[in-house]
Amino acid sequence: MDECIREIHAANDAASFWEQLHRRKGSVWKDTANPLLAETARHLTPGHALDLGCGEGGDTRWLATHEWHVTAVDIAPTALQRTSRLAARNGLESSDTARWTPQRLATPQRVATGPGGQTATVTDTVVAVRRLA
Ligand SMILES: C[S@@+](CC[C@H](N)C(=O)[O-])C[C@H]1O[C@@H](n2cnc3c(N)ncnc32)[C@H](O)[C@@H]1O
Repeated sequence: MDECIREIHAANDAASFWEQLHRRKGSVWKDTANPLLAETARHLTPGHALDLGCGEGGDTRWLATHEWHVTAVDIAPTALQRTSRLAARNGLESSDTARWTPQRLATPQRVATGPGGQTATVTDTVVAVRRLA
């Protein structure tokens, strides 16, 4: 495991983990849409979409350029910034992400049971993005 990945895994919470991952790389995921999304959504009537975990914003861009109203959410501010820039480069309106802040709503822990009957304590993270002003 190289040093970069080691540091990322040392991040002690999900928000730090994802933010570090996004910052370390110029581009983590492609800024193109997932083929399955495009194939599925092109048969639907455009409406409102929530892109939860938008990453570089590829799906957001595809939806917005196909007349969907998209709310893009990501735990990592860098991802939101890249999504916003991608939208701007494509002539799409985007909100001023500096005025939005990710907030952790809850971190419930529960015991999960795997397919082999093994158990582990897992943490579910619920995140919302709230406008400050
Ligand atoms: C595997 S990437 C996928 C990115 C994008 N949807 C795509 O398909 O290219 C997962 C994304 O979800 C974000 N993410 C992870 N946990 C999250 C959470 N709890 N709330 C919001 N976003 C989260 C990460 O920052 C990352 O951008």
